[in-house]
Amino acid sequence: MIQSRLRRCSLLLIMCATFVQAQPEGPPLGAGPWVLPTFEQGNIKVSVVARGMDHPFGLVYLPGTATSANPIGDVLLTERTGKVRLFSKGKLQKAVVVDMAKVFSMEQLFDIKLHPQFATNGLLYFTYIKTGPKPEGGKGYWVTTALARGHFTGNKIEDLKDIYVASKAWSGNIGGASSRLHFLKDGTLLFGVSHRIDTLAPQQLNSDLGKILRLKDDGSIPKDNPFIGVEGALPELYTWGNRSVMDFTTNPNTGEVWELENGPQGGDEVNILKPGNNYGWPIATYGRDYDGKRFSPQPWVEGTALPELYWVPSITVAGLTFYTGDKFPKWKDNLFVTSMIKGRVPGTGHLERVAFNENGEVRREELLNSLHQRIRYVSQGPDGLLYLLTDSKDGALLRLEPAGSEPLDAGVAGGVEVAQPATAAINMFPDLDCNTCHRVEEKLVGPSFRDIAKKYPMTNANVSLLADRIIKGSSGVWGETPMSAHEAIKADAAKAIAKKILDLESE
Ligand code: HEC
Repeated sequence: MIQSRLRRCSLLLIMCATFVQAQPEGPPLGAGPWVLPTFEQGNIKVSVVARGMDHPFGLVYLPGTATSANPIGDVLLTERTGKVRLFSKGKLQKAVVVDMAKVFSMEQLFDIKLHPQFATNGLLYFTYIKTGPKPEGGKGYWVTTALARGHFTGNKIEDLKDIYVASKAWSGNIGGASSRLHFLKDGTLLFGVSHRIDTLAPQQLNSDLGKILRLKDDGSIPKDNPFIGVEGALPELYTWGNRSVMDFTTNPNTGEVWELENGPQGGDEVNILKPGNNYGWPIATYGRDYDGKRFSPQPWVEGTALPELYWVPSITVAGLTFYTGDKFPKWKDNLFVTSMIKGRVPGTGHLERVAFNENGEVRREELLNSLHQRIRYVSQGPDGLLYLLTDSKDGALLRLEPAGSEPLDAGVAGGVEVAQPATAAINMFPDLDCNTCHRVEEKLVGPSFRDIAKKYPMTNANVSLLADRIIKGSSGVWGETPMSAHEAIKADAAKAIAKKILDLESE
């Protein structure tokens, strides 16, 4: 049954591919800045740092270039068309650093990364789609994924050359447009090769399609790769059953590499990478095909690894990073995932924040929806703030920074548009965890603060009673779920909190 589904999609390849390529842009980005409320980190300000890049894809911060006037320093950015641009002295420089499309036979340029010892060796790495002549003199589209390296000399990139061309990924299929690379702690690198809409190759170990490869920094193959010595398997393979690998990040607590990949309609995934794992595409997926039919009859089959996170419908994930800085204390160790379009409705791109505890995911929040942009990439700057790239002809570098915690008025604040949340979402005590279980107007895990205020008139006795319960916890008053204790809150502070809640109903 799977086989016939796969065959059917191969026959409809052109149609599937057209859907994959149809990537409507959202409305144009305004001038900003924008102030937006968030659930746990108060308000954030979003500003345009630079714009006018043609579909920017990746960026690197050049070490040792930050100044107090320009806290992110110099930044090199790739545009999908092949140009490498420099952001310096607070501005996107007009002169192009290099047009890679003039150096390589290139269809699209993707990622850029620094060698771990860039400060001493100046080495830069790029992933791109390479075009080549069809075998046996045939005509038409013929591409694979390649890894190039160059040497940065201050304002130029020299000695640009391919260090790895995926020789078992040549294909005439369009689609699956991404590749990123990621250095591991041991100095080797991971490099994603798209599925190219081939529904068989990702499950075949003699093909580079739908795989993650592991290479040394010179493009040679390390001797300890998981499939070395396995008959019929390619020695460069690290994982298989991947669809379109969109990004990688390292978990700051566990050191694991987390990988992001696109599903079709539904089934975008974050996977925790382990050498030799099969991530299931396309025999095990939560995704549906673009015509609405299920891709695989069940989301998991024996021998495949389940994703750590997945999205149904797809949000067209594109970039991810763990936040490890101090500027957004409430977001420490949260995972940020960018979205280009949600549920295939144009203008729905955004940024998702995923919070974890020791068991796994505990919250997901959608941010920046009101900007209606396709967001390609997220990274933490050297200044500890978050930076985004939007995917558009007028692509922008955006900065996110904290902006206080006062409730925002709807409409205009500081000359900028504010997207006001429903009253129920207002976080009355942004420095505490209350918002996890209480809202002002809505019953959540606990009663709404409004209902608490209605039940207890503002008297000294009630303030003391509630302050005591806030500190020690409470159970059986509102239902069966107990309220957690807050031993760290001092008596006076607890009284002030109780007063603020009861104030909701006092004149
Ligand atoms: C893990 C979920 C959770 C968190 C976090 C939480 N609460 Fe509660 N809260 C509850 C539940 C559930 C109840 C109802 C308990 C009951 O039935 O006695 C409650 C009840 C209350 C009450 C009413 C007590 C009563 O006796 O009527 C107050 C006041 C209150 N919470 C304030 C707070 C404040 C302030 C914070 C943050 C410091 C907070 N809560 C954090 C779940 C929570």
